[in-house]
Amino acid sequence: MNGGYLRPFEHFSTQAIHAGQDPDQWRSGALVPPLSLSTTFKQKAPGEFMLGYDYSRCGNPTRSCLEEAIAVLDGAKYSLAYASGLAATVNITHLLKAGDTIICMDDVYGGTNRYFQTIASEMGLKIVFVDCTKLKCLEAAITPETKLVWIETPTNPTLKVIDIQGCADVVHKHKDILLAVDNSFMSPYFQRPLSLGADICMYSATKYVNGHSDVVMGLVSVNRDDLYERLKFLQGSIGAIPSPFDCFLCNRGLKTLKLRMNQHFHNALAVGRFLESNPRVEKVIYPGLPSHPQHQLVKRQCTGCSGMLSFYIKGNLKHATIFLKSIKVFTLAESLGGYESLAELPAVMTHASVRKEDREALGISDTLIRLSIGLEDEEDLVEDLDQALKAAIPDPKALK
Ligand SMILES: Cc1ncc(COP(=O)(O)O)c(C=O)c1O
Repeated sequence: MNGGYLRPFEHFSTQAIHAGQDPDQWRSGALVPPLSLSTTFKQKAPGEFMLGYDYSRCGNPTRSCLEEAIAVLDGAKYSLAYASGLAATVNITHLLKAGDTIICMDDVYGGTNRYFQTIASEMGLKIVFVDCTKLKCLEAAITPETKLVWIETPTNPTLKVIDIQGCADVVHKHKDILLAVDNSFMSPYFQRPLSLGADICMYSATKYVNGHSDVVMGLVSVNRDDLYERLKFLQGSIGAIPSPFDCFLCNRGLKTLKLRMNQHFHNALAVGRFLESNPRVEKVIYPGLPSHPQHQLVKRQCTGCSGMLSFYIKGNLKHATIFLKSIKVFTLAESLGGYESLAELPAVMTHASVRKEDREALGISDTLIRLSIGLEDEEDLVEDLDQALKAAIPDPKALK
């Protein structure tokens, strides 16, 4: 059953479709939550609100529908929406104060790395990068100043897998340290960090949660009342909130999350198996393949894997570039998690802002190609990769 992965979360699609969407909450009984564009709301008496809303930055009915649905899907008490994934990261970081330390997984999204290194650190926070796949290294890095541990699993773009429960056990030996997990690559369908002991689950909803490459948004789920109260205050006070239309679109995308994730997984396995047997490919990294060094951990903490797959093409930057210029069904573009397949070169694109020596240490070489495998037919995806690999390397035996 389920290929040995963690059992799928029950009622997922029913909840994605119905949680927070009760038609009775609208006077019209509308099945699709209306787009509520009003910036301000009538009060019954000064300070006495009709349905809890006063000003749209602090709360909006279309946003509430999305936030309620996400909370249920994450197995959380609360969820909050932001203008982008990075805005969510910034809001979480504002839980800290100058002098505090953040321990960050050494292989995170380039923008998270850049924000921590060049902005948060200038505001008096100390950032320490640690390989959190090694729990002993995480434990050794914790000091009395540590207040937040930030992980992303699988990591981007080398798809290392971190033991969330193991990290939570280490972190929670200490009072007052929060464990935050960037769950953008998995979505709540394949991985629920809060149920594995994390305090904060964060998403770039721009990716799988919305899934249609037409919204930039961030989400945060938590269970603790005190954390929610503070984050809610920060959300309204910092003001990096999503527009009602973006909430409407993301809420709509959510309805098909399970169907989409299952198809991403199916297509990625087909592509992974094809690449693994290809003489023009040096190495494939996909957590859903038995060849992945942490495949057993993946099966313990996830219900499946997404469409994120990386591989090293044989040769050098020239071969990687010809490959990326030759793809036809895949598009050469940044981002991930949409219905369309994308390919990119992290060293030059998404991770160009990471220092060269750090990139090299992490294995982000000029031949590492990251794929976001979409929902097209698997045979078209495989055929496209095959022709692009042949265009890049006509004769693999001729390569040194
Ligand atoms: C894993 C991950 N986290 C966070 C972000 C930032 O999200 P956004 O672009 O929505 O601000 C990204 C963006 O690519 C990402 O890949």
